[in-house]
Amino acid sequence: MPYLQITDLHTHFTQRGGSIFSPTKQVVRAVDGVNLTLEKGEILGLVGESGCGKSTFSRTIMQLIPATSGAVVLDGEDLSKLSRSEVRRRRLDFQMVFQDPYASLNPRMTIFSTLAEAVRQRHPKLRGSSLFNRVETLMATVGLDAKVMRKYPHEFSGGQRQRIAIARALAPEPKLIIADEPVSALDVSIQSQILNLIKTLQKDLGLTMIFISHDLGVVHYIADRIAVMYKGKIVESGPAGTVFYEPKADYTKRLIASIPKLATYGEPG
Ligand SMILES: Nc1ncnc2c1ncn2[C@@H]1O[C@H](COP(=O)(O)OP(=O)(O)OP(=O)(O)O)[C@@H](O)[C@H]1O
Ligand SMILES: [Mg+2]
Repeated sequence: MPYLQITDLHTHFTQRGGSIFSPTKQVVRAVDGVNLTLEKGEILGLVGESGCGKSTFSRTIMQLIPATSGAVVLDGEDLSKLSRSEVRRRRLDFQMVFQDPYASLNPRMTIFSTLAEAVRQRHPKLRGSSLFNRVETLMATVGLDAKVMRKYPHEFSGGQRQRIAIARALAPEPKLIIADEPVSALDVSIQSQILNLIKTLQKDLGLTMIFISHDLGVVHYIADRIAVMYKGKIVESGPAGTVFYEPKADYTKRLIASIPKLATYGEPG
């Protein structure tokens, strides 16, 4: 049985508009019948243009928004059947890294407080030097000097902030990480540093990961398998090299033609 199994997942939004005399109701099928499986230790790259439903899909998996229908089964457990408190407990096992590290970090909390809080989600009793050591280790894991742990998010560069956001996602010792456009807000040179960090961490920690981007070049660099999303549906999926070099769907071909900076990342290693 795959580690993550997504079956016929739908997430629809109802948008109301018009006037009070002639109200209109429009259904947006942001996720429209997605089937996907993910094996333990694998990176699945999800790619598609802006508005195709990538973030809605990831938030639905995380149970942050309810699915309209379908199933998300993680490690044999159907997440949509869990109560809220059970979801909160289970969510320690699946963490998210967001596109904008500045918006996703609390500006009033030092890096130490942010990471300590995340560590204590898993180990509520941890304090004192054990907690300090754990935070120090986390910072080293993402390439940050422990000396900066008393600083606030605004004192860091974009790349450093994304390292902090990654450390925070790792802190509760998750098994699955969903990274939603984690490098899109960064300069190209910093992008490759963060991509390499994610790749190394994923291998070292044996994480299972869904890596989301609108850039097929980035996804090809990092993923084992690629799924291409278009208007809420998966139009093509397969091993990264096959999807990238022998695309079948017209939409994938168009995505490849529009890659802005293919040469920057080099060949996947
Ligand atoms: N809360 C909401 N209410 C209504 N419509 C929504 C809501 N969230 C998203 N949508 C719509 O669902 C569709 C998919 O949006 P989503 O943010 O998932 O796309 P995306 O692929 O992540 O785009 P981007 O690359 O810009 O982040 C869009 O048409 C969007 O307008
Ligand atoms: Mg998005």
